[in-house]
Amino acid sequence: MHWTKNTAVVGAALLLGAASLTAIAQTAAAQTESKTSAAASSELDWWKNAVLYEIYPRSFQDSNGDGIGDLNGVTQRLDYLKELGVDAIWLSPIYPSPQVDFGYDISDYENIDPQYGTLADFDHLVAEANKRHIRILMDMVMNHTSDKHKWFLESRSSRTNPYRDWYMWHDGKGETATDKGEVPNNWQSDFGHSAWEWDEKTRQYYYHKFYIQQPDLNWNNPKVHEAFKQIIGFWLKRGVGGFRFDAITTLFEDPNLIDDDILRDKNGNTYLNNYGDIALNDTRTNNLPGVHPVMQEMRAYADKFDSNKFPGTRVLIGETYLPNIAELEKQYGPSDHPEFQLPMDTQIGFINKLDVATFRSRLTDAEEHLDDHTPLLVFDNHDNARLDVRYGDGVHNTDIERVISTILFTSRGASLFYYGDEIGMKTTPPTRKEDVKDPVGLTGWPKDKGRDGERTPMQWDAAPNAGFSSASAKPWLPIPPDYTTVNVKAEEAAPDSLFAWYQALIRLKKTNPALAAGPETLLDNENPKVLSWVRQASGNLSVVVSVNFTAEPQSVSLSVPGPGATLKTLLKTPGAPDPVSLQAIQLGPYGVYIGELRP
Ligand code: GLC
Ligand code: CA
Repeated sequence: MHWTKNTAVVGAALLLGAASLTAIAQTAAAQTESKTSAAASSELDWWKNAVLYEIYPRSFQDSNGDGIGDLNGVTQRLDYLKELGVDAIWLSPIYPSPQVDFGYDISDYENIDPQYGTLADFDHLVAEANKRHIRILMDMVMNHTSDKHKWFLESRSSRTNPYRDWYMWHDGKGETATDKGEVPNNWQSDFGHSAWEWDEKTRQYYYHKFYIQQPDLNWNNPKVHEAFKQIIGFWLKRGVGGFRFDAITTLFEDPNLIDDDILRDKNGNTYLNNYGDIALNDTRTNNLPGVHPVMQEMRAYADKFDSNKFPGTRVLIGETYLPNIAELEKQYGPSDHPEFQLPMDTQIGFINKLDVATFRSRLTDAEEHLDDHTPLLVFDNHDNARLDVRYGDGVHNTDIERVISTILFTSRGASLFYYGDEIGMKTTPPTRKEDVKDPVGLTGWPKDKGRDGERTPMQWDAAPNAGFSSASAKPWLPIPPDYTTVNVKAEEAAPDSLFAWYQALIRLKKTNPALAAGPETLLDNENPKVLSWVRQASGNLSVVVSVNFTAEPQSVSLSVPGPGATLKTLLKTPGAPDPVSLQAIQLGPYGVYIGELRP
């Protein structure tokens, strides 16, 4: 037994859930005005305390035995997601694509890649998800298209083609009729080497922040804006609940093409990155201010879009890796011209080290410097090694994953997590270069093995291929060897599993009023080993949370502003008694305590 839950309280929360479901049903029957408007406001605010789940569709569930996950596979697993407590699923790209960057190179924004299914399969998924009150969110890639997209095929066909100005074409330095000259400047691709690619037919270079096969669009061209509004409308009409905007900080580049600055180490020397290129600071190709009016335009468009398929707010989520809280705050936009509802706070989730002081200061930042906006916490995704590598110590990984998930679900705001985190899937990178699928791994090998390791198939059960695909199929990435014990079926049956812990945390987030909406205050601020905070919602009981960041037992003494109180345990890891007071909370190694303050 690795943790215990207070059955009485969680049971009561469940009963409350059932009672409120009954209430919703009665509301529908009675159609009273006030109750209807309460339901309407919950449709408007659904995203503020949302549980969001990222699915990498290639790796979630294969329904037709070709070794590649697909949309019907996702539909088959909706009951699982409901049981887990998910409000919305973000699907990484499922559009037609040459799959150079596994879908992030899109050749048609208004269709489904045949590998993943059809538009009819998509509509079926949305309908089945909506029946379960789960929203489907699409990935919106606006920085670039595939080089096989018809816009780019047109654009590269001649310098006078009407689509020429949809992409970023430039002359080489010192170019002549016979010599292509040098690349326009030193800008680098995030995936290695120069960001400029020579195109012999029209004798110019085009710019690509990512792969050569992902030419950047020209966002100074109003036609590009119009094209994307049409695409967004296409999916809103089909009933999607919103979008995650890919690589959104890279839409604009310095119009004067000034070189990026060369980075230097502490001795003042230049150094090489994982791809063997001189390391640069990408200030001239990342986080330029032009993105703000674009997102204001997209938000205004989504907000006014009317569709009766699925009522409620359409949420815009941003992939926003930013250097500090002030830059993150800007992504919400001014109040009269809002941008994202939920730009990702990667400042917290990608600290990548269990350092109490850093967590305390970043959580305080999110509470104090985002005005009344909603933070979106996220610790994991398809681009980074999983939690075992970034936070684990190899000995207490599961306990550490309980610590991380506690921060994720009991901090204020929306919570986003990545398929497989809930069962403790491990990073499983390729061991031989010839097995690598992600070109990042091919360019970066052996220093950077690419992103295959965090994209392995979902581990459903102990059957061959982990229940991901039929036994005879060869999955597109290998099944990690631990699937016989680390899988959904085994963890659903074990009351002390990581899956059960996730489920209990999500229930608390949804049913406890202080955890659902209360402001957060960090406590015990000098403690270097234990992170503690309180959530206080006016008129409701406060909840305190303590998480031990060390492998040794710890004891904390907290003081919470307000009248004295006793503690009622809501959820805790084992090995420690129920505390008699706030002044004596004991925690086992990487232990967690969540308790309600009773008068
Ligand atoms: C984002 C995606 C990543 C992709 C890149 C280019 O960072 O998350 O997977 O490779 O954008 O589209
Ligand atoms: Ca398939």
